[in-house]
Amino acid sequence: MIPLHYDSQFFDEPIDRYGTDCDKWDGIMAQEGHAVLPMWVADMDFRCPPEVTQALVKRATHPVYGYTEPSAQAADAMIAFLARRHHVMISREQQIMLPCVVTGIKAAVRALSKPGEGVLIQSPVYGPFEQSILTNQRKVVDVPLLRDTQGYYTMDYAGMEDAFRDGVKLMLLCNPHNPVGRLWRGEELTRLYTLLEQYGVTLISDEIHMDFVLNGGTFVSALSLDEREQAKIVVLTSASKTFNLAGLRQATLISRNRELRHAMLHDMRQAGVEAGNLFSFVATEAAFRYGDAWLDGLIAYLAEGERRLRNELAKRVPKAVMSPLEATYLAWIDLRAYGLRTDELMRRCYAQDVAFSPGVYFGKQTGEGFLRINFSCPHSQTMEAVMRLEKAIQANTTEK
Ligand SMILES: Cc1ncc(COP(=O)(O)O)c(C=O)c1O
Repeated sequence: MIPLHYDSQFFDEPIDRYGTDCDKWDGIMAQEGHAVLPMWVADMDFRCPPEVTQALVKRATHPVYGYTEPSAQAADAMIAFLARRHHVMISREQQIMLPCVVTGIKAAVRALSKPGEGVLIQSPVYGPFEQSILTNQRKVVDVPLLRDTQGYYTMDYAGMEDAFRDGVKLMLLCNPHNPVGRLWRGEELTRLYTLLEQYGVTLISDEIHMDFVLNGGTFVSALSLDEREQAKIVVLTSASKTFNLAGLRQATLISRNRELRHAMLHDMRQAGVEAGNLFSFVATEAAFRYGDAWLDGLIAYLAEGERRLRNELAKRVPKAVMSPLEATYLAWIDLRAYGLRTDELMRRCYAQDVAFSPGVYFGKQTGEGFLRINFSCPHSQTMEAVMRLEKAIQANTTEK
């Protein structure tokens, strides 16, 4: 039953997700009132590793689903996976199980800053970074990434240093970066960390996209920057993005710093946040233990998907600038040359029955005129989406 090779045939197979209450297909259909090709929210239209399904089915046949402890086996499987694939060494007590990464971001903001204080982000960046700061009455200190004409982004060290000098003590980093596709290099992270140490700033590094390295290069975890216990570093990651398990709700916070862990645990206990559910632990363990072959096949498929997307865009939407993509399965597309604002782009795309993520979700100014395309789906679906985007851009405003 378990295939030996996860080749393009495996990932080419369309999976009908309608009727599963999934955000991506059912949610957007409910919102728009008609079927829409969904290239937006960051989950994949691929089957997860069959070993995960097998483990879930096996557990489901035990007919008692009572209160469950955070699983030591899932924790150990993650420890082994991080060592095997990313050369990051951690221990069980350095992990805290969470329902999801965004829970961890919010707990970190609440526990490690006070109302009114600034928290640094680098837009354009995953929308819930900003929302997590605002909803907890902190101040967003945005030091936007710098962009060159090819759409390649780098960090604004001088801008960050100004913010740290002004008293910012907490930073949210996205590595690899959603949506601009950067895989931050060791030198860039070391330069950042030198500044953080100099100004006593705590780093929250969201590494949920750690496994999607598409074009060579090596993922460097913030945990590798400083292995001392007192390092002010918190990492958030999970099996959910890598292995397409987001609906199961499980993630992990990792810090070698006991004080930081205790502060965040305290906040979560106050809010009554309990980690995961029994099926999420079963799936996490199976994915981290047995998912390597599936993951290697997936990465090869996504790398080819990126190449095809870039070529198709060049043909059909030639003024689009797609940022160089080092990691993630999310393409960041600058469409400003067409002179349309994001809301108009979105309206036209919905009229052509296709949904992308609006650039402004990642930065009101830095994402204006941009769309993000999630290409973690069969290549044929991506090609269809680009054709619809072409029509959307060519359509005159009164046309459906
Ligand atoms: C950078 C980043 N962090 C966190 C998440 C969400 O993770 P979770 O579902 O575990 O909250 C996403 C999902 O797209 C993401 O791109």
